[in-house]
Amino acid sequence: MTAHTGRTAAYAITLALWACGPAPEPEPESFVPFASHFARYTSWESFVIPGGAQQEDAHVSGDRTLYLKRRPPRGATRYPVGTLIVKVTPLQVFAMAKRGGGYNAQGAVDWEWLELEGTVEQPFIRWRGIGAPDGEGYGPPGESSCNLCHDGAAHNDFVRAAPLQLSEW
Ligand code: HEC
Repeated sequence: MTAHTGRTAAYAITLALWACGPAPEPEPESFVPFASHFARYTSWESFVIPGGAQQEDAHVSGDRTLYLKRRPPRGATRYPVGTLIVKVTPLQVFAMAKRGGGYNAQGAVDWEWLELEGTVEQPFIRWRGIGAPDGEGYGPPGESSCNLCHDGAAHNDFVRAAPLQLSEW
């Protein structure tokens, strides 16, 4: 490479960096959530769904508040690995975490389901996995009803709430 082409390449790189602004945080290939990742989730971006205003099969009646840790980039067709969403209902606190790596391959692909307890400051994980354990959650024992119901939103990366449609961003 001559000095000239080297310089041209350097300009091109500088221009590309300038045009894109600061490089976005690279998306990890996989992610495993811990309880501490959910600490102070009420400080995340939130969306209130008033009772009765959403799908009738929304786990419970009453107001629900959804908390989203970091919006996906504009135009994204799926939620990035590392995404956390918490759903607070009058009775329970549910969550989903984008683990990636083909996790939950038969269900909501790449997502793990969780129920949180404890405080907003210091939540702990009551259960986690590809679905609720027997006797918890919904539907017949042994079946992941989380997967079944959220499958209806497969086109939106298994995220059901109207304000969390990827096409909105
Ligand atoms: C009967 C259907 C149904 C089942 C079963 C179900 N969900 Fe949902 N879920 C919904 C609907 C509808 C929404 C949209 C928000 C709302 O209206 O409350 C939702 C929203 C959520 C959200 C917020 C992100 C999103 O997708 O909008 C989380 C987190 C969540 N559910 C977790 C769970 C977990 C964990 C389970 C299993 C224990 C589960 N869900 C089972 C219907 C269901």
